[in-house]
This record gives sequence, structure tokens and C-alpha cells, in this order.
Amino acid sequence: MGRCYQGPMKAIRYHAVGGPEVLRLEDVEDPTPGPGEVRIRVKAAGVNFADTERRRGHYDAAVPLPRILGSEAAGIVDQVGPGVDSRWVGRRVVAMAPRSYAELMTAPADELLELPDHVSFEEGAGLLVQGLTAWHLIHTSARLERGQKVLIHAAAGGVGLLTIQLAKQLGATVLGTVSNEAKAQLAKEAGADEVFLYGGARSVADWVRDITGGAGVEVVMDSVGASTWASSLESLAPFGHLISFGSASGEPPPVSVESLYAKSIKVSAYWLRTQHPEALQRRARQALGELLSSGSLKVKLGLVVDLSEAAKAHRDLETRETVGKVVLRVP
Ligand SMILES: NC(=O)c1ccc[n+]([C@@H]2O[C@H](COP(=O)([O-])OP(=O)(O)OC[C@H]3O[C@@H](n4cnc5c(N)ncnc54)[C@H](OP(=O)(O)O)[C@@H]3O)[C@@H](O)[C@H]2O)c1
Repeated sequence: MGRCYQGPMKAIRYHAVGGPEVLRLEDVEDPTPGPGEVRIRVKAAGVNFADTERRRGHYDAAVPLPRILGSEAAGIVDQVGPGVDSRWVGRRVVAMAPRSYAELMTAPADELLELPDHVSFEEGAGLLVQGLTAWHLIHTSARLERGQKVLIHAAAGGVGLLTIQLAKQLGATVLGTVSNEAKAQLAKEAGADEVFLYGGARSVADWVRDITGGAGVEVVMDSVGASTWASSLESLAPFGHLISFGSASGEPPPVSVESLYAKSIKVSAYWLRTQHPEALQRRARQALGELLSSGSLKVKLGLVVDLSEAAKAHRDLETRETVGKVVLRVP
């Protein structure tokens, strides 16, 4: 298990909201697992776009500071709390829980996913937040079906590449948008049928109209928000469904119900932190674990840096430099 751990642990905290420079590597008291929890020696922590929004104070702003960032990790269980089977100790696991930018974290034992030996900690750390989001967008919100067409913005991002793969497995046609050629190439490698570089003179909606012979798409998944919103609505086929799940470019404008009538379209939102039915979440977690283990779902590692370089990870993620998953390796 590497060096002999002596504590206190190192963690990335911020004491005030702001730019990436507010992230500091500090000594913090080791966490103790409560009832029903395990403690995990973190090997790799997943970085998500929402972490950059939290750090800027645009999301989850009520949480008191200083605060340890993070919401998922892969590692090895080193302690169990009251009521938890001690056989968890020593197992490789993936967990979705807060305060994962750290050498140690705690997580509920009944939500752990075992990580098989042939899957790296880095890939494991990229599975849950973005994978569950992709899975629920497709299966729970869109109920996407074989033969349908889906438009996915920011298609080469963490959620984007996973959503493409899950949509293709269902037999959908995937149209993706990205900001540059290298990202377009990655989206195609993940299975996208057609990819468009947005931000130029031609609108996404015009492109979708051409590609679909004027029909439009049944589903749009929009995490970009302000800059894509108008095209997302315009790209929908009659009875289509636009799902908003993020606002990387800013909040989308309010939706008037009146504007939905002409094409009888639906606009909805998806949030991973909504209270999901337990059985549904367990099914989604298990499905993702099996897909990753069998190699049917790939977590594309775009940037892997040491925990101490969390500020660089954030800077690259929010300036659109990254593709796929961003991970902090914990030495
Ligand atoms: N609702 C939920 O529960 C939930 C859960 C997870 C993630 N999300 C959301 O899903 C989105 C993707 O998350 P992720 O962690 O996988 O990140 P990501 O997609 O890897 O990174 C964000 C991407 O958004 C695109 N983008 C477009 N306009 C941007 C702008 N003005 N500034 C920054 N990025 C911009 C960029 O791709 P291009 O360069 O190709 O444009 C960028 O790479 C985020 O908006 C996130 O908040 C929501």
C-alpha cells in the first residue's frame, strides 16, 4: 500500500471562493468513518466541471469554508465504521461522496462499487459522476430508443464521451458538437456519427437541419446553456425533448410554455443530486460497473495530474483545454 501512512492527511481546500489559485494543499485532520461508512485511502480523485463552479461560488455556495473539494474517487478501504462488514478493508473501490480531493475520505458502504484489478484507479475515479449523469440522461430522462437521433453538446467532455458511448450501445444516431478538430476526432472515436464545430458562422441548428434532411432530432442534451440554447430548441423534431443539465457558458434564458406549442416539444432538466429511487441508482451503478469491467465503456483519461496540481486541473477544465476525464492522482 505504498508509504507508511502517518497523518495528518493532505487535502485540497479553499478558504475563499475565487480563481484556481484559491486551491491549497493543506494538512487536515484525518476523517473517521461514521455508522454505515467506510474510510478510503484515495488513489485517484475525479475532477468535475461542477467543482470549478463550487470553487467560484456559483454552485453549492451555502457550504461553509474552508472546504475540501471533490465528489468522487477510487481507492482502497482502510477502515470501516460501526455496523459495516470488516471484509471491506483492503478492497479496491469507487465511491461518489464529498471531500475526495484528499488522501483519505469517507463514503457510505452500501453505495460502493468494487473496482476489478484490471481497471485502474484513474479510470475508476472517472466513472460515477459523469457516468451516472450520462446513464440517467439516456435511460431515465430521455428514454432514448434505437433509431432515434440525439444531439450532444460538448461531446468530447467527460459526460459527453460517456453519453456518446451509451447512446450508440442503444442503437441511436449521435450528432455531437465540440469546439475544435482534436475534440471532434475524439467524439468520432467514441462513436459519434456526425460532429460539428460550434462557435463559427454557421449555426448548429442549420447543420442539424442539413444532416437530418430537415427532420431535426428527437433528443438534445445541453450542458452548455446560454450559447447553445436557441439552436438546441431549433434542432428539435416535433415532439422532441431538450434536456438541460448544465450551463458551462452561462444560464440559458427562461422558457415560455407558449413557445413549446408549435412543435409540441418538451424541455426538462436533469440533476444527479435529485433524490433518485434507491433501486434505480443501484441498477445504474451496477450497469456502469459491468460496462467498465467488460471494456464496453471506456473512460477516456484526458488529464491526470498529482493532487497538488488541482489548480492546474481546474484552470484547464474551465478554459476548455481538457477532453474526457480529469483526474487527480494521489501519490
Ligand atoms: N446536472 C448534473 O447532474 C450534472 C452532472 C455532471 C455534469 N454536469 C454538467 O455537465 C457538463 C459537463 O461536465 P464535465 O464535468 O463532463 O465537463 P466537460 O464536458 O469535460 O467540460 C466542459 C466542456 O464544456 C464545453 N464548454 C462550452 N462552452 C464553455 C464555456 N464557456 N466555458 C467552459 N466550457 C465550455 C467545453 O467543451 P468544448 O470546448 O467542446 O465546447 C468544455 O470542455 C457541465 O456543464 C457540468 O456542470 C451536470
